[in-house]
Amino acid sequence: MTSSPDKYPHIAVTHTANANALLIGQAKSIAFELNCPLIDRHSATIQSLLEQFNLDALVVVEQYKLTLHTLDGLLRHHPNTSVLRITNLCRGRSDVLTDLMHLKKGDRLLDCTCGLGADAITGAHITGDEGFVLALESSPLLALLAGRGMESYTHQSHIEVTQAMRRVNIKNACYQDVLSELPDKSFDVVYFDPMFKNSIETANGIQLIRLLANYETPTNEDILHAKRVASRSVLLKDSSNGKLLSQLNFNLAKTGRHFAYGIICCSD
Ligand SMILES: C[S@@+](CC[C@H](N)C(=O)[O-])C[C@H]1O[C@@H](n2cnc3c(N)ncnc32)[C@H](O)[C@@H]1O
Repeated sequence: MTSSPDKYPHIAVTHTANANALLIGQAKSIAFELNCPLIDRHSATIQSLLEQFNLDALVVVEQYKLTLHTLDGLLRHHPNTSVLRITNLCRGRSDVLTDLMHLKKGDRLLDCTCGLGADAITGAHITGDEGFVLALESSPLLALLAGRGMESYTHQSHIEVTQAMRRVNIKNACYQDVLSELPDKSFDVVYFDPMFKNSIETANGIQLIRLLANYETPTNEDILHAKRVASRSVLLKDSSNGKLLSQLNFNLAKTGRHFAYGIICCSD
């Protein structure tokens, strides 16, 4: 299984009008990474380039950020809910997910479903410099946005958020491929947060994430691998009905109005 931008087959990369050589070089290397054409911007508008080249999506390389434009809207990386969660943690308050993980400094966390990475960023805040967070994302465009965002986004008032983002390692890959290759107990915690059709999100750009994202859910075989790879626990986030959790034999750990978390302890 390999990741492919199948939902957006016609993509291209460009840069801001009047870009300098550095920005043009970055645009070139991103086009190479995505294996798609680089369009010279000149003074054309984004809308006209999307239409002229019949594109599904256009990645625009700007100073310190990337923006993904489609005819449906635009998407930029943002740390989203991790900002509030890290603020709460810094004030000594709890965080539901990382509490269930019993996450601590120095831990190794494998986030199988990165998206834009709010859970991975919160995890990386806790695991710190001695820890390791690897976040997998099968959509090349989402992985690109998250990866470049983690490298370059600077939160103006929360140094902890910026530091946590720099610690997240993003890999454009399917968890099926990665889990089957990983050695036993190579992570403390393995986490899945698959897309569910009625998932409630308030973050901006979520509609576009829905269009880009992979909607597959983990199978029994994936969970078997996850249990082998995790030394402490495997966690799965589900919609509030918990149907997937019971299908995959997770113990219900926490329910909310819109979600349910399940856990399998590996040290038992
Ligand atoms: C609900 S989002 C995750 C949100 C994330 N936990 C956060 O805090 O922002 C699920 C993401 O997992 C990705 N995904 C789904 N199946 C995948 C797979 N087999 N391998 C890697 N990523 C996958 C989707 O493309 C989507 O971006």
